[in-house]
Amino acid sequence: SAIHRADYTAPAFWIDTVELCFDLDPAKTRVLNKMRLRRNADVPAQPLRLDGEELNLARVLVNGQGASFKMDGNQLVLENLPAAEDGAFDLEIFTTCCPAKNTKLMGLYVSNDSFFTQCEAEGFRRITYFLDRPDVMASYTVTLRADKAKYPVLLSNGNLVEQGTLDDGRHFAKWVDPFKKPSYLFALVAGQLVGREQRITARNGREHLLQVFVRPGDLDKTEHAMNSLMASVAWDEARFGLPLDLERFMIVATSDFNMGAMENKGLNIFNTKYVLANQATATDTDYSNIESVVGHEYFHNWTGNRVTCRDWFQLSLKEGLTVFRDQEFSQDLCREPSARAVKRIEDVRVLRTAQFPEDAGPMAHPVRPDSYIEINNFYTVTIYEKGAEVVRMMQTLVGREGFAKGMTLYFERFDGQAVTCDDFAQAIADANPDSDLARLLPQFKRWYSQAGTPRVHASGSFDAAARTYTLTLGQSCAPTPGQAVKEPFVIPVSLGLVGADGRELALRTMDGNTVPSPYTFVMTQASETLTFVDIDAEPVPSILRGFSAPVVLEFDYSDEQLLTLLANDIDPFNRWEAGQRLAVRSALKAIAAVADPAPLQPLNTAYIDAMRSVLRHPTLDAAFKELVLTLPSETYIAEQLDVVDPQRIHAVREAMRGQLAVALTDDWAWAFDAHADNGAYQPDPLSSGRRALAGMALTHLCLAARTTGDVVWPGKAYQRFKDAGNMTDRFNALAALVASDHALAAQALPRFHAMFKDEALVLDKWFALQAGAPDRAGNILPAVRQLMKHPDFNLRNPNRARSVIFSYCSANPGAFHRPDAAGYVFWSDRVIELDGINPQVAARLARALDRWKKLTEPYRSAAREALVRVAAKADLSNDVREVVTRALAD
Ligand code: ARG
Ligand code: ZN
Repeated sequence: SAIHRADYTAPAFWIDTVELCFDLDPAKTRVLNKMRLRRNADVPAQPLRLDGEELNLARVLVNGQGASFKMDGNQLVLENLPAAEDGAFDLEIFTTCCPAKNTKLMGLYVSNDSFFTQCEAEGFRRITYFLDRPDVMASYTVTLRADKAKYPVLLSNGNLVEQGTLDDGRHFAKWVDPFKKPSYLFALVAGQLVGREQRITARNGREHLLQVFVRPGDLDKTEHAMNSLMASVAWDEARFGLPLDLERFMIVATSDFNMGAMENKGLNIFNTKYVLANQATATDTDYSNIESVVGHEYFHNWTGNRVTCRDWFQLSLKEGLTVFRDQEFSQDLCREPSARAVKRIEDVRVLRTAQFPEDAGPMAHPVRPDSYIEINNFYTVTIYEKGAEVVRMMQTLVGREGFAKGMTLYFERFDGQAVTCDDFAQAIADANPDSDLARLLPQFKRWYSQAGTPRVHASGSFDAAARTYTLTLGQSCAPTPGQAVKEPFVIPVSLGLVGADGRELALRTMDGNTVPSPYTFVMTQASETLTFVDIDAEPVPSILRGFSAPVVLEFDYSDEQLLTLLANDIDPFNRWEAGQRLAVRSALKAIAAVADPAPLQPLNTAYIDAMRSVLRHPTLDAAFKELVLTLPSETYIAEQLDVVDPQRIHAVREAMRGQLAVALTDDWAWAFDAHADNGAYQPDPLSSGRRALAGMALTHLCLAARTTGDVVWPGKAYQRFKDAGNMTDRFNALAALVASDHALAAQALPRFHAMFKDEALVLDKWFALQAGAPDRAGNILPAVRQLMKHPDFNLRNPNRARSVIFSYCSANPGAFHRPDAAGYVFWSDRVIELDGINPQVAARLARALDRWKKLTEPYRSAAREALVRVAAKADLSNDVREVVTRALAD
């Protein structure tokens, strides 16, 4: 049954202090929970209802006395509580649980013989009975007891105040968290771990100990995470004046983790994927993800932990804001402005390929949802990435300094509290009373309440006689489930005008004022116009610069206009965007063509020449070139169509890639030679951009070899695969052979496996590469089935399951959407199988068919049948049930 935001009521009790004592044992862990509770006088008197899940209850004492209680579903209900003067009482609960059998990886679980916890959102109730909701904030004291030889390291939130030995080879550690926190931020870790340590002195002279804990063999992969953590601490102080508030800050890595990482107070727990890196095992992408995720979790210490969410509908309060902060952090770490732009393009690409489809599909929900069945299903790209765009628009509307002022006011008002998205927006507006945000706040907040991606319809008209250029901007937003009508949004549209000669024009409005370029026009109406004067010839409008709002921009550009922007726009985002528009245009044309099979040469000469100019450009960054030369993904192209034939989209995009490969062979060869040797490995944006471009060149040279019969480049790729000094170059070379289906791939793959058989994260790449390979003969699904029988495959490990199953079902549309429906049958089997192990992971996989209604036949009926098959399963988890029910609803 669904939970509604409108039903929120304050808790009937507060928990002031919690003393937890754990006797850690994989088969039976004993948890003694002593709480001091107090009635909330603002709420009518009522029984105490504590949440608990998969717990064995042994004892309940109220004020030291045995107390009567009843069970109501998963809740422990206590009536007749003592009515002390202040309404306070002690409650002691003793339970046991079985971490070894906890395959859901929520609550307390065992991974590689160590104990870990994951409590967000509702995992704490799997550890003990509690008011497991974020607006109940308590002070925690935690004692951990365990076998000393097996679990030498015992960690929890806050400060270590005591440790010592016990009988029978056991020992203990006692931790006190100086900050009140909601239960979802609780954490403990126990196991054989080693730590990299770093002492730092903050600006204010305070000393801190930073630690990164990993399994003993992984210490040589912790330097980058530690550097990222130090950079995060420094950045939050410099940019927002937010210092580290703890003596000790710990990161611990585990290879079994449902998501990326978790910001538990003072004890962040990470998926190994976002901690471990050295040049031999991690790619440039891994390095940059680690930097973002370490930053993200660290920044939560203020945005999430010091100020937390009142309820889970406010999730974007912390997630959208913290994603915005980690994006800004990564940008600020770039020395070159061009690298900042590259990061922005990458972020927008994620938003448009993942969030836009979500916003247009059955799981569409507002940034602040109104209801949910399973909160874990709402850790989405909408809450995270679109939420970050909403915060970014606020910064645009109040300016960078104004935004920093708003953050200061937010913490002045709400430090130590559990609050709402409204509270945040109000603080930013109140700190900037003269801003557009303050003026438009109620309307701006529609970004929180209305789901769906707005479309901005723009058109321009040039009046030669009056020497004016008028832009008409309209907006609309299609209905989403449960929201038929949308009111206009506040849309900051950053824009400029580019002359036909490519030069940026000065912008003068009707009243003769010159406005700074780029100019941010704040749309509020369904339709409005703006006119610029003193324009001599028809300009090319560059609209939505820097992607100033999360919308779809429609403008009927001619090819020439797009080529002008691609060659000249001072805004790197729109320069890239112009290339993407040209490519999408060619793709859509070829997809719509009557010819069957689709035309083999979808790209025109002008586009190919433009790509050559970009590739050979004397001053553009390699990273930027790589982005421009990357064709829009199949998913992105599919979103531009009402009816989707995945095989045709795949064929067209492959044809485009092949065409670029052959037409630019000499240029790719030049690009490879000019960028292949980077000297000593450094993961900085400039050198990783060079590696990315070299890798792209190699892939295209191997693709071209399929047509030309060339043997030299595949040979070079194999050589590079063997000799590379870092994982980025090695993996790109391997990927080039796999992408071109070259016979040498069959030699390289087993060799790669043998080289890295003990490196779990590298094996994940090895599995993912094969499950994501282009399907030229319908042999990927059988290969995936084979991979699942590999001795290194383990369905219980989320990273490994994702590397095979998700790489196939979610990231390889050409292989997954089979006319014989076998891909969908495979999908439904895996969703059902995974649901019995780990519902969260199963529900993510279930989303692979979100967009089934757009599919053409026979795919559509087959996909529906697969969904019905999953939905018909009797004891589905809430997680999967919610996803498939919404997918099948009309
Ligand atoms: N708060 C974490 C982060 O974004 C994500 C935890 C989500 N976990 C979950 N089981 N839904 O950093
Ligand atoms: Zn987060």
